[in-house]
Amino acid sequence: MTFLRFPEGFVWGAITAAYQIEGAWNEDGKGPSIWDTFVRQPGRIERGETADVAVDHYHRWLEDLALMQELGLKAYCFSISWPRILPQGIGQVNLTGLDFYDRLVDSLLAKNITPHVMLYHWDLPQALQDRGGWGERFIIDAYSEYARIVAQRLGDRIPFWVTHNEPMVISLAGNFLGEHAPGLQDPLVALRVAHHLLVAHGQAIQVLRLELPKTAKIGIILNITPTYPANDTEEDRQAARRYDGVANRLFLDPLFRGEYPADMIEMFGPIFPEIQPGDLQTIRAPLDFVGLNYYMRAVMRNDPEVMILQASQVYPSESEYSQMWEIYPPGMYDMLTRIQADYHPKEVYITENGVCVTDGVDFDERVRDERRIRYLRDHLAQVQRAIQVGVPLKGYFHWTLMDNFEWAFGYRMRFGLIYVDFTTQKRIVKDSGRWYAQVIRNNGFDPKA
Ligand code: FCB
Repeated sequence: MTFLRFPEGFVWGAITAAYQIEGAWNEDGKGPSIWDTFVRQPGRIERGETADVAVDHYHRWLEDLALMQELGLKAYCFSISWPRILPQGIGQVNLTGLDFYDRLVDSLLAKNITPHVMLYHWDLPQALQDRGGWGERFIIDAYSEYARIVAQRLGDRIPFWVTHNEPMVISLAGNFLGEHAPGLQDPLVALRVAHHLLVAHGQAIQVLRLELPKTAKIGIILNITPTYPANDTEEDRQAARRYDGVANRLFLDPLFRGEYPADMIEMFGPIFPEIQPGDLQTIRAPLDFVGLNYYMRAVMRNDPEVMILQASQVYPSESEYSQMWEIYPPGMYDMLTRIQADYHPKEVYITENGVCVTDGVDFDERVRDERRIRYLRDHLAQVQRAIQVGVPLKGYFHWTLMDNFEWAFGYRMRFGLIYVDFTTQKRIVKDSGRWYAQVIRNNGFDPKA
């Protein structure tokens, strides 16, 4: 193979999330989020860790910006902490919170790094959860109002807007499995949460279109899990299809087609959420782009023991694994081509992709994370393949800029291109960070080098 070149103007970026990096959990007027509550409940987070301090980005953002520049990032996607802007979720605006993001945006622009903003990466104001959170319809207006406030302050300078990160994970991990905040285990609520997230997304798009310049692009980020049958049997194919339904189509179909998949309505039966007139039309608001997060595939087998889904996941023994998931680069290509064939988004970004492997600092203060470099190389090769066959892929954002608080795993999982010593807050660019910087400089890479 020869040098893999990417299209002119391809956007090379990195992405982070407010709760995972900012810290300053109760400073400068910020209200508590559901994660601030959740991490304080015994047994929720490994070793009882919290992101009260995280990597202290709220105070060290200038240093972090310098590191982004060192990597040569063309774009940076960050999320806004809703309770930093509206401590109670609605009502009184905390201007100090808006000032923080205002400074960040101006400084990014000054360094020629395009800001992409994510409105909701999981840190719902606790005051809204106290009223039922995403499980209740009032949240739709509350979210739109929050979107309006952010757009009015930052809209003139941010060209890319994302409504939600991974509605599927919010619904499933937060409200059915109870592994994420708010820690509920209720299938009924989980489905209502999914629906309300989508309606809120659509309504916020209407608000954003009114507030933002015509040139601003608006989209949503979905985590897509390509699904494969464990065996070449009709039973397993159906099992894979069902999992594809809950993980992918339940979100893609309403967003792109304005309808929920018939097989999912049937499968969930009486617990399928109530849909009010106009909801599907709202959800279907045209998107300028879709952001896709790719980490893993799901290999599924038929399993009547599992409630409702009647399918369970199989972990192929011949595969390579990271600390959290199977590593399967071809899934990136399969996902991108499938989304294009079935849903025809106008533009696509890979908005998250990355890996946690054990990173250690060597005697010379270097982090030789060869496995992450290999991971990046293998996945970027698949991204490039998808571009070759016509997927309108405009950019790639690596998850993540720097090691951080990885939700229920606490600080054990390191996904960064930059190593962080969580005691001293010292940052060290890993070998993968240097490798990525080179890819950005050359707009491509030699897969053999
Ligand atoms: C994604 C999340 C992100 C991070 C990565 C590893 O699902 O959006 O915050 O946890 O997984």
